[in-house]
Amino acid sequence: MCGIVGYIGFREASDVIIKGLKRLEYRGYDSAGIAILNGTLVVRKGKGKVANLESLISQTNVKGTIGIGHTRWATHGEPNDINAHPHWDGSQNFAIVHNGIIENYDALKQELQNKGHEFQGETDTEVLAHLIQEIKEVTDVDFETAVQMALKQVDGTYGLAIVNKNERDKIIVARKGSPLLLGIGDDEVFIASDASPIIEYTNKVVYLDDDEMAIISRDGYQVKTISNVALSKEVHELEMSIEQIEKGGFPHFMLKEIHEQSETIADCMRGRLVVEDNKIVLGGISAVTDRLVNARRLIIAACGTSWHAGLVGEYLIESLAKMSVEVEYASEFRYRDPLITEEDVMLVISQSGETADTLAAVREARSKGALVLGICNVVGSTIARETDAGIYTHAGPEIGVASTKAFTAQVTVLAMMAILLGQRRAKLDEKESASIIKAMSEIPAKVAEIMTKFDEVDAIARLFAYAPNFLYLGRSYNFPVALEGALKLKEISYIHAEGYPAAEMKHGPIALIDELMPVVVLAAADHTNDKMISNIEEVRARKGRVIAITTDNNQDVQRLSEFSITVPETHDLLTPLLTVIPLQILSYQIAVYRKCNVDQPRNLAKSVTVE
Ligand code: F6R
Repeated sequence: MCGIVGYIGFREASDVIIKGLKRLEYRGYDSAGIAILNGTLVVRKGKGKVANLESLISQTNVKGTIGIGHTRWATHGEPNDINAHPHWDGSQNFAIVHNGIIENYDALKQELQNKGHEFQGETDTEVLAHLIQEIKEVTDVDFETAVQMALKQVDGTYGLAIVNKNERDKIIVARKGSPLLLGIGDDEVFIASDASPIIEYTNKVVYLDDDEMAIISRDGYQVKTISNVALSKEVHELEMSIEQIEKGGFPHFMLKEIHEQSETIADCMRGRLVVEDNKIVLGGISAVTDRLVNARRLIIAACGTSWHAGLVGEYLIESLAKMSVEVEYASEFRYRDPLITEEDVMLVISQSGETADTLAAVREARSKGALVLGICNVVGSTIARETDAGIYTHAGPEIGVASTKAFTAQVTVLAMMAILLGQRRAKLDEKESASIIKAMSEIPAKVAEIMTKFDEVDAIARLFAYAPNFLYLGRSYNFPVALEGALKLKEISYIHAEGYPAAEMKHGPIALIDELMPVVVLAAADHTNDKMISNIEEVRARKGRVIAITTDNNQDVQRLSEFSITVPETHDLLTPLLTVIPLQILSYQIAVYRKCNVDQPRNLAKSVTVE
């Protein structure tokens, strides 16, 4: 949610920053801006994508080797030129870019207005700039101290970077609740919200933690707390490669990421699923597995697609480990004064590892003494660092805003956890666990087989690209897949879509069905098959257009449905890993036919770092 890039070194700062902001555009893309220190302080900004900023700065001189930039996802104030970052203080001495929300900005703004400050726009960030200015002028402390004093007065979250024309060789950055890292090169330092803008220059990074700041100059960097206590931070080595964050010949990241899934699922299982020993090895949670095995309850908390993965996890863990599982929207968790104790374990799931609501759930559960585990994709992310232990999904960077390969990797981790727990709780006999482990090892090849049906799915997408509504139905572990299919479609194609447990259809949504309504039915040949067939009949009787996602062996469903896409058979509990793939392709192709911006859908951001 908003992206920040900064640079100090020997390169042309605007080149580094523009390139970096393009990599971060998935975090927000309604306006962008840049501030360059080159003897004076030049600020250029405007509504629209980073490409607009690029053409704006090509017409003006913004040469210099120190600068900061921002791509915005609006929170306070509509996306327009004025509200775009960087923001000036009132005397135009310094410029600031900010990711996060200053919650008490209104009160601060009124106070500052009473003291004569005039504001250009409506953002909370501009208020912070004026607050720093006010403190500096009234107290006459140095600039760094003024920043520290201002940050102590703000409630809320920030990842920020500031350049000051009176301090020509310096960038000040600070973090509370919004990610920020430093990339350490030879005679240069990079600043970014995540590692993607810096990976081509250096693989050495320093992650800032909450309430920390860094003073970056040509001589290096110094990290300290906001209260001015010097810190010595570990320098981490990134494993990410530049190829992983490029499109690799695909027109969109989402398509590339859909195609990658056979590999990413295999990567996720590598070294963890040991078929020959009928064993699951989850090193990241080995130190706490006993506590997990004996937990009274497992509470899974996540948002969006990750929440859907959590729902699949509930079916898997309850079924294989006979353990009580509750799945919560992380965004709701702490508003219920949740009953969670030391006997419970919370498992949070987050691709980005930065989702503010999920992080808040982590903190709430930890404050109540629960063990908190994480399933994250981004290595070194805040949630990965704040949880007691966890498992990385190893899906590689997911850049398309609509999550695809992260979902299948999350479900893969949950399936492995379910098997491990089933074995350790003696609820899964050797024969059954061996059969599921073997079935899991075959999933990557089956995903690859589904990808060969791209054109079949495409034909359906072409036909229904202009449908105004879609209904998705599934039962049991395919119910969350119905939710996920509907979410994928609505977020990238803007078609209204609803996912329902198939049996609920007759309690309301059936009223929507007519000859214009495509109904996507997830009907594997499992214990729900007869009931799914009844649902298909009910839709047909009302002239709805049935698109079945079913298994190769499910002749009945194929015969009854107007369209069907088949997936290979697998262990029943693993079908979500396969049935979701045609739904991802369907929404992708529909979005392409509708000429939507697939990778950067309107109003969305990849990583939602505000609550
Ligand atoms: C949907 C999507 C979002 C995310 C949600 C949680 O395609 O991407 O619904 O799943 O914002 O994000 P993470 O998993 O990063 O916590």
